[in-house]
Amino acid sequence: MFVRSIPWAAQARRSRAIHSTAHAQRVLRVLGLESSADDACAAVVTSNRKILSSVVCKQHDINRQYGGIHPIAAHEAHLRDMPRAISQALSEANVRVDDLDAIAYTRGPGMFGCLTVCTTSARALAASSGKPLVGVHHMQAHALTALLTEEKAPGFPFFTLLVSGGHTQLVLAESMSKYRIVMTTVDNAVGDAFDKVARLLCLPPSSTSGLGPVLEEYAARPPLPPYDDAPLRLPLPLEGRNKDTLAFSFSGLLSATERLAKKEAGVEMSEAVQRAVARAFQTAAVTHLADKVRLAIDTLGFPVKGLVVSGGVGSNKYLREQMKAMCDGIPSGPIPAYYPPIALCTDNAAMIAWTAILRLQDGLVGEPFDLPIRKKWSLEDLYDDVPASCYRS
Ligand code: KG4
Ligand code: ZN
Repeated sequence: MFVRSIPWAAQARRSRAIHSTAHAQRVLRVLGLESSADDACAAVVTSNRKILSSVVCKQHDINRQYGGIHPIAAHEAHLRDMPRAISQALSEANVRVDDLDAIAYTRGPGMFGCLTVCTTSARALAASSGKPLVGVHHMQAHALTALLTEEKAPGFPFFTLLVSGGHTQLVLAESMSKYRIVMTTVDNAVGDAFDKVARLLCLPPSSTSGLGPVLEEYAARPPLPPYDDAPLRLPLPLEGRNKDTLAFSFSGLLSATERLAKKEAGVEMSEAVQRAVARAFQTAAVTHLADKVRLAIDTLGFPVKGLVVSGGVGSNKYLREQMKAMCDGIPSGPIPAYYPPIALCTDNAAMIAWTAILRLQDGLVGEPFDLPIRKKWSLEDLYDDVPASCYRS
């Protein structure tokens, strides 16, 4: 018989009196699972901001064969890697499932097949152990990573620039659970643009990282002749009459980069062209991001306490420097820029466990096993399908 289970709703009501402040006082230990794209990740994190373990199984070799993330191949790899990631995360943290306070997983957004792996793994663990289950929004987790990693965490409200393979958004984090999307890309995500340009330039794939870091590395190499005296330049997206548009765009820059690379390379791509075009593209993409964030800060006038840069592209050193320079140069007074460490900027499960901890401390008791996976999920619709009975009143 199929039992529609909302395990934590009834328990929440029963134990409200006993546990009303328990999560706020006790150190919580949560296992997080993440598999929304091409990394199978498991981590154990505590509410006093200790990452006891963080395991990330990457799929660079598979992505290289398919020229990007292949949904079925990525799903299969997650099915292979997730059990190993979980067992390693538990053993490195030196905990058993019984010692945990909750099991957390990415419920969206992401690739549906990939999301099913962390979802069913977490639900099976929660069902067999009787532990609370928490489904986390992947982009909220990127946004809240700075609260885990920063000694002096940014206060709300803060801006968060989420730059990954699937997203390019400037988001106003008004509180832990309330977000407003201020700007988004009208076409490609910036990470996708980095990956496409790296492929266009035939940059050598790395077995330890994706293509974005390879492009960054080429852009940082000193230019070779004839480009040492005359660097290449690319036009900034959404300039001219679109200068005041509050949006990001990368498709025009991608086409311009392709034209430039073809013109410079002629019949054969050389390292001189690879370095020069990589640098021109990175400069234009990052300048565009910094200019548009500055436009939002100047025109919208939100009293933000900081800018948190997160998502895979947030590990780019040039982007970090340019964002810091932009934040330092704001005439009404500098705002601090925050960058999670690189391993926590790219996809990881520590951020999923951490976000679950914040939600538990904020009154969540646990979620049903039958909430839908949300492959598309706006940060503005956060947890709108979680029944009120899942929260302590
Ligand atoms: O957040 P993330 O790990 O996964 C997604 O949710 O998409 O971001 C992955 C994206 C990829 O497009 C990757 O090439 C890009 O972030 N990326 C970078 C760098 N590191 C990762 N792009 C530019 N520079 C980097 N250092
Ligand atoms: Zn991500």
